[in-house]
Amino acid sequence: MNVKEILINRLSLSDGEYISGAELARQIGVSRNAVWKAVKSLENDGYIIESVTSKGYRIASQSNKLSAEIITSKLNAKKLGKRIIILDKTDSTNNYAKNIAAKGAVHGTVVVADTQTAGKGRLGRNFVSPFGMGLYMSVIIRPTFSIDVAALITSAAAVASAEAVEKLCGNDVHIKWVNDLYMNGRKICGILTEASMGLEISSPDYVVIGIGINVRKFEFDDELGKRVSSIETETGKIINRNELCALVLDRLEYYMDNLEKRSHIDEYKRRELLTGNIITASIGTEKIMGRAVGIDDNANLIIETENGGRRNLSSGEANLVRIKN
Ligand code: BTN
Repeated sequence: MNVKEILINRLSLSDGEYISGAELARQIGVSRNAVWKAVKSLENDGYIIESVTSKGYRIASQSNKLSAEIITSKLNAKKLGKRIIILDKTDSTNNYAKNIAAKGAVHGTVVVADTQTAGKGRLGRNFVSPFGMGLYMSVIIRPTFSIDVAALITSAAAVASAEAVEKLCGNDVHIKWVNDLYMNGRKICGILTEASMGLEISSPDYVVIGIGINVRKFEFDDELGKRVSSIETETGKIINRNELCALVLDRLEYYMDNLEKRSHIDEYKRRELLTGNIITASIGTEKIMGRAVGIDDNANLIIETENGGRRNLSSGEANLVRIKN
């Protein structure tokens, strides 16, 4: 690590306390002038560093810069986040991750970008990703479990992301089947999981979990604005994206390690929004209407149709028609 990398590491571990230039110079083993130069260079990179004459330096809480060093310093996960790639801009972090996964990137590699020019949503939709406004991340998983178990990855990622957001802002986060996170009835996060099958068909070669969380308040076009929101809009709180990324990875690692036990499924059921309500669901070209009566242990949506039949849906799109009465 160079001086700049060590410096950002030390400052990010200080939990908002100032560290004097002399102390930093001693810890890093360089002159105070070298510390000062590294601070200037970090500011050039976009970090906001506060300096007070008698106290020293600290990272400003409003510093919104994505940083692999800061994410690492906050991370408890051992496998996820082993390698973190930060990009200013990419078409889609999922595309970037699939590309490097195909070339051998290791399990747990994470790609995070400040903006995506062609962010992808489910069912061929676009995911709006303005610069610095959200956490746009993709995690490469090389599963050791079967395809059946791998099908649970998306629901586990939804629970992991919901818990991370809730922990940082304190507000309730719900899940709308399959994998959208909602706050106060509006979507704040979407998840897109993409898998590549290798020659060995019992388990995917790799899976890319793409998570997009709207953090800051920003203007959506009229139609989208009715349904989509952000953490800041709903809570008034500005969440640090590095901290959020680390927490998502921590929770995701736990649920990935316990996927076969379906450790996330009770939390998924508890947070799910459609359950109990009259909904419509589209599965390919088929449309059905009925009451969502629950989620089964494979994270399928159970629908009781108008003629009294039951369907367990593993994928598709479902929307609320009427709230339960
Ligand atoms: C959806 O809402 O339908 C899913 C949205 C998934 C968005 C995330 S942002 C990071 C990753 N990269 C993408 O292109 N998509 C996912």
